[in-house]
Amino acid sequence: MAEFSVCSDEEVITGRGKKVIVDGEEIALFKLDGTIYAISNMCPHQKFQKMHEGMIENGVITCPMHGWAYDVRTGVSTNASGKLKIFTAEVKRGKVIIQIDSPVQ
Ligand code: FES
Repeated sequence: MAEFSVCSDEEVITGRGKKVIVDGEEIALFKLDGTIYAISNMCPHQKFQKMHEGMIENGVITCPMHGWAYDVRTGVSTNASGKLKIFTAEVKRGKVIIQIDSPVQ
């Protein structure tokens, strides 16, 4: 497992995704009730890397391309069969830390 500091906690704004690139992999960050969640930015449907541009509501992110939706806490789709890769994320000393070598799923 490797940890990467990707941005400050303040850069992740509730209701909006933030894209970061870690070790060549695009990751979308979201903040829900003060907690940071990190998911792959690549939608399983047609592999567009646009999840950070999607609409988020009640913890569910909707891909802006064709509307597949996923719970950012689990990666499980709420309206299709796909599942997003999720990563462990935490805030240490105001910085968002991602564990990139050990995806949760
Ligand atoms: S690429 Fe995301 S729904 Fe099609």
